[in-house]
Amino acid sequence: MAGSTRIRRYGASDFEGVRSLWEEAFPGDPPWNRADRAIPEKTGFQPDLLFVAVADGAVIGTIMAGYDGHRGWLYAVAVRPGARRSGVGTALVRHAEEALKALGCGKINLQVRATNDAVVHFYQRLGYAIEDRVSLGRRV
Ligand SMILES: CC(C)(COP(=O)(O)OP(=O)(O)OC[C@H]1O[C@@H](n2cnc3c(N)ncnc32)[C@H](O)[C@@H]1OP(=O)(O)O)[C@@H](O)C(=O)NCCC(=O)NCCS
Repeated sequence: MAGSTRIRRYGASDFEGVRSLWEEAFPGDPPWNRADRAIPEKTGFQPDLLFVAVADGAVIGTIMAGYDGHRGWLYAVAVRPGARRSGVGTALVRHAEEALKALGCGKINLQVRATNDAVVHFYQRLGYAIEDRVSLGRRV
């Protein structure tokens, strides 16, 4: 990762940078995952667990973590296409892991779309293993 890149907690002035990064990195995501919904939700609940990677004043990466007292979760890992394959994604994951560990978290889970082989490889390189589970969900 370039020396000028910094990872820090999300601040309100990062909104536009994050919104445009997520639109680029997660095309076709449902409305409830978009920045205008997800960021106010997150910053109103666990504001210390949304992080940005910043280079030359611009947002080039994001990661969102969550801790429920039992398990930690990672979401919204994204790096601008022009900044990929230089360690920013790895640094974001490690940063979020440290934040979760500091809260007492001992196990981190995450979900990846079944078609996203590249991201599965990225996480396996970071020590994450595919677990024999079926993921279920329901909007309430
Ligand atoms: C996944 C993502 C965050 C990785 O960010 P990154 O900054 O490029 O990651 P790193 O540079 O730290 O990559 C570390 C290693 O992961 C693996 N990796 C990363 N991207 C990969 C790809 N597209 N294909 C295969 N392996 C990949 C490589 O082994 C890489 O090491 P190398 O560059 O020395 O070969 C980025 O590709 C991205 O934003 N993708 C789109 C958004 C997305 O799908 N997010 C996941 C949602 S679950």
